Amino acid sequence: MVTSASPATDSVAPAAGEAAAPFEQGLDRLSPNRNLAPLSARLDALGRLEVGGVSLADLAQTYGTPLYVLDEETLRATCRAYRQALAAHYPGDALALYASKANSSLAITALVASEGLGLDAVSAGELLTALQGGMPAERIVFHGNNKSAEELQLAIDRGVTVVLDNWNDIELLSSLAAGRARPVRVLVRFTPGIECHTHEYIRTGHLDSKFGFDPDQLETVLRHLAGCAWARVDGLHAHIGSQIFELEPHRDLAAVMAEALVLARSLGHPCGDLNVGGGLGIRYVGSDDPPSIQEWVRVVAGAVAEACNQRQLVLPRLLCEPGRSLVATAGLTLYTVGSRKQIPGLRTYLSVDGGMSDNPRPITYQSLYTAVLADRPLAEATEVVTVAGKHCESGDVLLRDIRLPAAAPGDVLAVFATGAYNAAMASNYNRIPRPAAVFVHDGVADVVQRREQPEDLLRYDVLPHRLLPVT
Ligand code: LLP
Repeated sequence: MVTSASPATDSVAPAAGEAAAPFEQGLDRLSPNRNLAPLSARLDALGRLEVGGVSLADLAQTYGTPLYVLDEETLRATCRAYRQALAAHYPGDALALYASKANSSLAITALVASEGLGLDAVSAGELLTALQGGMPAERIVFHGNNKSAEELQLAIDRGVTVVLDNWNDIELLSSLAAGRARPVRVLVRFTPGIECHTHEYIRTGHLDSKFGFDPDQLETVLRHLAGCAWARVDGLHAHIGSQIFELEPHRDLAAVMAEALVLARSLGHPCGDLNVGGGLGIRYVGSDDPPSIQEWVRVVAGAVAEACNQRQLVLPRLLCEPGRSLVATAGLTLYTVGSRKQIPGLRTYLSVDGGMSDNPRPITYQSLYTAVLADRPLAEATEVVTVAGKHCESGDVLLRDIRLPAAAPGDVLAVFATGAYNAAMASNYNRIPRPAAVFVHDGVADVVQRREQPEDLLRYDVLPHRLLPVT
């Protein structure tokens, strides 16, 4: 195992013919966000890495690279971890909603829906994916700080709960929903004024945030909504940020939200739901030590129950919105190693066939990742290299200064924990097509997203007639 933060271990791969062995030592089966690799990651008889019973090298061969691989076992185990922890630690009803911005596809939606979770969507695209993927509308909440009239129309036509983020939402919805037989189910989002330690781009709970109503405005908003026959205020929402390892901010959030619940109910709103957002972090490199799902839920659920009891509030249904912690560790990305540039005394660049277009997180947030060679993941690391992408940008580096065994062109590199915010944030920079994605399970791989082709990228180009070359 080699990471950009911890040295390689020198374990020996099993000899051919031996049974597959778990790849990661000290694997946390109950809380996959605490592992680097998917739960089903094992060494096959040849010492190669397999996931879901399929060799990664074979996947690369069959489907090409870059390739997003998602382990169904890990996805299901994580969904169950949230459900079971909520049932164990919250005395009232509870529902985890998958924050589909982390990775939105029909297949993930169908899996998450089959595990009994709900879903959070933030655009018409995510909403359509959720509905077509089989997520019941009553388990979907629709977010966004600048929803269009068309998006709101789609949400209310399909019976999806709308999270009111600002006055524009209220004005648009009041015109779209006026005269409807049944009021629109809404939650009201506000900024709770809670600071937490994470990258500034992914903090949302502090007051200077574009999301949600300012807490000072909450009373005015709730009073206004009390006079709106088109709206049924079924709850409150707040989200403090993402990739958070601390538990204290979530405890503080519960108290702030319970106080807001007192206000909302005193104004006559039913407010049966309290949605505390997502944010639980995951392990990207060996030194990361996030809380477990069970611990996070225990603290959040306990704090909400306590804050409500202290205020003699009937317990709301507890909603939470995990994104990253639900899908990141189930995923990994395969790349093929290409060119090598050695700058004596300075650095060795190993270039792969993807980069910032399939994983913009390193260049955007300086995120660290862990990688191994797919066919010899435990081979001794003999050199320090920097894995660069193929984009025309010097900052297009996926892993800086990592220890790897000597890698040659054609070797397959597996980067762990790419299941969240990779495919979802992929671009076509340099007109590079987006990768395919496969689900793996019990020795079978299923394509869940087809690989884009260069021709696909021309589909929406229009060449005006007057620009055609004169012949
Ligand atoms: N709920 C709301 C309202 C959110 O805005 C988010 C994330 C979530 C839930 C899910 O949070 P999670 O459980 O994934 O931490 N692109 C960034 C992350 C942006 C997160 C945006 N909102 C990254 O790659 O780190």
